[in-house]
Amino acid sequence: CGIVGVLGDHEAAPILVQALARLEYRGYDSAGIATVSGGQLDRRRAVGKLVNLSDLLVHEPLSGKAGIGHTRWATHGAPTVINAHPHCAGRVAVVHNGIIENFRALREELSACGAGFESDTDTETVAHLAQAYLDEGMTPQQAAEATLKRLEGAFALLFLFEGEEDLMIAARKGSPLAIGWGEGEMFVGSDAIALAPMTNRITYLDEGDRATITRAGAEIHDAAGHLVNRPVKTVEIDLARAEKGGHKHFMAKEIAEQPTVLGEALRHYVTDDGKTLTLPDGGIDFTGIDRISMVACGTAYYACLTAKYWVEQLAGLPVDVDIASEFRYREPPIAKGTLAMFVSQSGETADTLAALRYCKDRAARIVSVVNVPESTIARESDLALPILAGPEIGVASTKAFTCQLAVLAICALEAAAQRGRLDAGGLARHLDDLMTVPGRMNAALALENDITAAALDLAETEDVLFLGRGAMFALALEGALKLKEISYIHAEGYASGELKHGPIALVDQTVPVVVCAPYDMLFDKTVSNMQEVMARGGKVLLITDARGAAEAGSDTWRTLVMPEAPDPFAPILYAVPLQLLAYHTAVAKGTDVDQPRNLAKSVTVE
Ligand code: G6P
Repeated sequence: CGIVGVLGDHEAAPILVQALARLEYRGYDSAGIATVSGGQLDRRRAVGKLVNLSDLLVHEPLSGKAGIGHTRWATHGAPTVINAHPHCAGRVAVVHNGIIENFRALREELSACGAGFESDTDTETVAHLAQAYLDEGMTPQQAAEATLKRLEGAFALLFLFEGEEDLMIAARKGSPLAIGWGEGEMFVGSDAIALAPMTNRITYLDEGDRATITRAGAEIHDAAGHLVNRPVKTVEIDLARAEKGGHKHFMAKEIAEQPTVLGEALRHYVTDDGKTLTLPDGGIDFTGIDRISMVACGTAYYACLTAKYWVEQLAGLPVDVDIASEFRYREPPIAKGTLAMFVSQSGETADTLAALRYCKDRAARIVSVVNVPESTIARESDLALPILAGPEIGVASTKAFTCQLAVLAICALEAAAQRGRLDAGGLARHLDDLMTVPGRMNAALALENDITAAALDLAETEDVLFLGRGAMFALALEGALKLKEISYIHAEGYASGELKHGPIALVDQTVPVVVCAPYDMLFDKTVSNMQEVMARGGKVLLITDARGAAEAGSDTWRTLVMPEAPDPFAPILYAVPLQLLAYHTAVAKGTDVDQPRNLAKSVTVE
């Protein structure tokens, strides 16, 4: 969820809505705002995208210069108006990102004292608790402080009080929160980007901080209750909002711009002569480590799985890859020679951030691969490697994935060079290969018509399998994720060789099988697995190159002939047809491609 607050000089509602638009990547199930005006607290809430709230505000405007707002990704309670934030009780309004873990006990306690709850949310408990303390005669500051002491879980909270037009109270415990400094105006947001149109002077709250904010400034207390000074930083944020640039969807635009952004990302890390690498801020010492632990979620996780093949093959360095939500609670030992790497487009994913902090607490060196340089994950890392993909708006990640792969390929090559597994000539040859990928992507994009034809058929199916071997296995997983995210068709990725151990039972003429197989060392083995599918009546869509197509014969349902891909970096190139396949299938089905149901671009709760 995204939260925002303003104590301003102008009407708050339009400012809040504008800021929420920049936070919609955190959820778009419902949205709401509350303001205090003439001492009175009032709110407007609407289910669905932010545009529904904007429409409501046209018919039922909300005045007031102090306000808070929220865009929701539902955790407790369905996305209904009643469950939308802000939540109010008596004189208190609250917006919240995160989860209050002990809310059931608190709710029972408050209900027993006569509090009437209208929603299913954990957040409403916070409002009632604060109101209970106000009823005891506490001031708003005291009530907020007493409330915060009772809450367990990870959250960011923002309080607004009836009768208080110059007061907001913000608290951070686990979820990030930024305070923005204007001229006689103050702002609060889940990230600095939300506040960018209003101010670039930002104070990031630390873990456990509570801020009492008035138009004159912010007074911050730390977890121990001491008054503290947190620095005001000037952050540079590119305000240019991404536009669709003539494309029907952001996703289409983001797929199409990959040759450009990938080229830029690579050039950032490769010296002008194209022969050596240059990593920022002293780079990474790969000689003093004996393993890498990579942690991420979703598409970024599949980027890590792909990189595992590269780092292990090229640099001979063992790599563990973990799903962030599984990592922390498994309590993995972090040995001294472990480098901890975190990959995240947004840099705000709660699971990934929690895993990062777990490693930090155990003194590991933290390297992150991120798209948003101002993000929490970037700020909490020892070294943040930018992927330079530019703003990615479509919820399904495309260009961020290929740029993550590019930066991870660079890391694999750097590790190989440092560890003496690649000499200067070998490194230069690999870099030469990598630098050809953006150009080859144009040729892959040119297959769009063939892919659209296949997508029209896929749109009629209920299950699709994706197969690959080696690093192409990781890409098969990503291809399946892409398809299910936006077309809602059930899809699974499997290692080609694993199919015969169970999933082949699913194969019949109604289940298309997408086989990703460039003509490489593993090609013959993958083709054998493909034959096993076809022998059972399966429909194969083979994605390969000209040599692969010639070798595989013509028994496939369809064959897409890709440009030749440099080994071992074919997954970067082969991501393109899988993205186009998912995209055109979703378009054929008429789904909401850029904001698919139930998802958020960045999930900021565990
Ligand atoms: C969400 C998105 C996924 C994304 C994942 C990780 O679940 O829907 O598309 O891959 O988060 O996001 P991150 O910003 O950490 O890369």
